[in-house]
Amino acid sequence: MSHATPKPLSSARSSALAGRIRVPGDKSISHRALMFGAIATGRTTITGLLEAEDVLNTAKAIEALGCPVRKTGSEWEVLGRGVGGLAQPAGDLDFGNSGTGTRLMMGLIAGHDMTVRMVGDASLSKRPMARVLDPLQRMGVEVLDGATRLPLSLRGTADLIPIEYRSPVPSAQLKSAILIAGLHAAGATTVIEAEATRDHTERMLRHFGAEVATVERDGARAITVKGDGELAGRRVTVPGDPSSAAFLVAAALIVPGSEITIEGVLVNPTRTGFYTTLREMGADIAFLNQREEGGEPIADLRVRHSKLTGVRVPPGRAPSMIDEYPTLACLASYADGETRMEGLAELKVKESDRLAATAAGLIANGVAAKAEGDTLTVQGGGKVRGGGRVATHLDHRIAMAFLTLGLGADRPVTVDDTAMIATSFPEFRPLMEKLGAQFAEPGPGDRP
Ligand code: S3P
Repeated sequence: MSHATPKPLSSARSSALAGRIRVPGDKSISHRALMFGAIATGRTTITGLLEAEDVLNTAKAIEALGCPVRKTGSEWEVLGRGVGGLAQPAGDLDFGNSGTGTRLMMGLIAGHDMTVRMVGDASLSKRPMARVLDPLQRMGVEVLDGATRLPLSLRGTADLIPIEYRSPVPSAQLKSAILIAGLHAAGATTVIEAEATRDHTERMLRHFGAEVATVERDGARAITVKGDGELAGRRVTVPGDPSSAAFLVAAALIVPGSEITIEGVLVNPTRTGFYTTLREMGADIAFLNQREEGGEPIADLRVRHSKLTGVRVPPGRAPSMIDEYPTLACLASYADGETRMEGLAELKVKESDRLAATAAGLIANGVAAKAEGDTLTVQGGGKVRGGGRVATHLDHRIAMAFLTLGLGADRPVTVDDTAMIATSFPEFRPLMEKLGAQFAEPGPGDRP
């Protein structure tokens, strides 16, 4: 889907936010539920699936690969074709804005004797794919045009070779692509990661009946999947997305007098670095009613406006909060003192260069921020001038983070485009408004 007409939006200082809400389903888990459903035998039913463009593109892709997908009431159903059973698609697979859809699907296509052309939007077409293509080529996949970015054509093989691979970057997408390909290989495939990344693939593959073992090896994690097995169709419940909840949490922390509760949010420890950091900054956040749903821990998050202090966020925490740095940086603008976020190399290869985009957006709104190497520093002064226009670079999270920044600023904050918000969190604006936040379409004269 293309987003030809930019939709700018402004946010202004808000009165206290209040209410109990739910956020839509987790994006990572939604992609995986559809894909694993496609290679399982029989029916997979999914409740709470994130109905956003990224995930809907994955649904379209698995339909094109021969797996019927349909929605009845609020439940999604996938009819799977078994491991190695996908069919040659008639045309290109279009992943829109989604790195997760693209990279995980490369692992899925890898084990089939077919050639598939993969395409995406302008943002996705700039993102590095060699990190996934290199190990898949070692397993026997061919990249027909030698490309390392989309568009590219992949030729899979039913005779994949199992590998042991030490991941050079902390990336759950890379780990997942190899493990998914490994399901199709004759033997055991192992990925070794120095830093733990989100483990939804491991958890959900086990849920579908695959043999997946995770062991400590020399301080790293070695994850092994047994190939040539079968997955069986299952019921999957998708918990609320903590990366979407992060914007609402930040809003409540910024706006004085706020108290909100977000129900049913995923609190898997490989995803909660943002919340750990907020507590260190002095945020009043409680994980209430902790329970398990569909093999994942969830909780209701109660957040009260808090006075925050700047902190140093260590590099080792980056994988567990990689998508939350723009939001944390916006929040840190309201804290007292400096917040220093280290080890952010991966932030430069997201839907945009988020390190540069975040620093630029903050500076445009009067915040002293600096991107230097892999470090982002923000000087918090307790208040934010605002009045700036933020370039979002086709990046949903930059748009939402800066609209959140504006809720406490002296002057409105404008983002140049909100169309991309539909890729991950279409309900962002209505949910924020339900809590009491206000947004306005800027007029032509509002351009600073
Ligand atoms: C994701 C992993 C992360 C994250 C992305 C979703 C996933 O990317 O940024 O939004 O679902 O596996 P990397 O694994 O590339 O860091």
